[in-house]
Amino acid sequence: MPDADAADPAFAADVLACFRGRRRAIPARWLYDLAGSELFEAITNLPEYYPTRTETALLQRYSGEVAEHGGAGRAVVEFGSGSSVKTPHLLRAVKPSHYVPIDISGDFLRESADALAADFPSLEVLPVEGDFMHPLALPDAVAALPKLGFFPGSTIGNMVARTSVDLLRSMRNTLGEGALLLIGMDRIKSPDILVPAYDDAQGVTAQFNLNLLHRINRELEGDIPVDRFAHVARWNDSYARIEMHLEAQADVAFQIADERFSMAKGETIHTENSHKYGPRDARLLLRSGGWTMCHEWTDPDNWFALILAEAKPFQTAP
Ligand code: TRP
Repeated sequence: MPDADAADPAFAADVLACFRGRRRAIPARWLYDLAGSELFEAITNLPEYYPTRTETALLQRYSGEVAEHGGAGRAVVEFGSGSSVKTPHLLRAVKPSHYVPIDISGDFLRESADALAADFPSLEVLPVEGDFMHPLALPDAVAALPKLGFFPGSTIGNMVARTSVDLLRSMRNTLGEGALLLIGMDRIKSPDILVPAYDDAQGVTAQFNLNLLHRINRELEGDIPVDRFAHVARWNDSYARIEMHLEAQADVAFQIADERFSMAKGETIHTENSHKYGPRDARLLLRSGGWTMCHEWTDPDNWFALILAEAKPFQTAP
């Protein structure tokens, strides 16, 4: 068992690059240590955080239609499956012979794969541990089967446009021409709804964001005065995204792994983006990645979209 507190060299490199450089940002994946993942789980149950609830209701209601639109019987491949809580609704309707959950966290993956296998005795569950941002090989058993990719949670929104297009293309390569993709995307809406979803009254999202500084102190021998930082969620209208930052509330000086750094009052560390997509934005993004929308389902408020797209053969453009 590796020491849980041992510094991951990639984490150290990203954090030091943030404080040495002028552009203060830390890749969002470092938010998700054990404490961060638990806090995120709590966020999904907050009254202000509508996406999980809304998307789950859409899956509950429309998975049958996803099956009717060509999804029925296809092998289901889930990207970043995590706890796979939303998946049973889809599996019950699509009735695939095989389910391939892909996740970077092996322990989490095997645990939820076992639970699903117990609930669906005739389903072949074939977990793949890996980073879906990089090309992946699917198990031989599904190679010849038609596939339905599943990418819920508006996780696509956590990437900048260029990266999300790279990912959509890579998913097309992994799943093959003719595949379908069921993807969740959060819609553009009033900042009065968006901002509280990322800055809740109970302060759980603040704890989630601030946990990153605690993690730096714990794992990288830091002495950042965490109580001098505040969680900030901002709507960036020109990028149509919510940004999470950690803002210094006073001039601060601290040390990380024997190196000294300082931040002036009001300076921020950018820790996360959550891009929102209007109906046309979503279709353009998908097409840029080689996917053609077939159908979309939304809630009555049009807050969240569940989109089914197909990897059609490329055609000669005029
Ligand atoms: N993809 C989700 C979203 O953007 C999950 C998420 C990422 C999130 N970072 C977050 C949710 C911070 C709440 C707070 O909404």
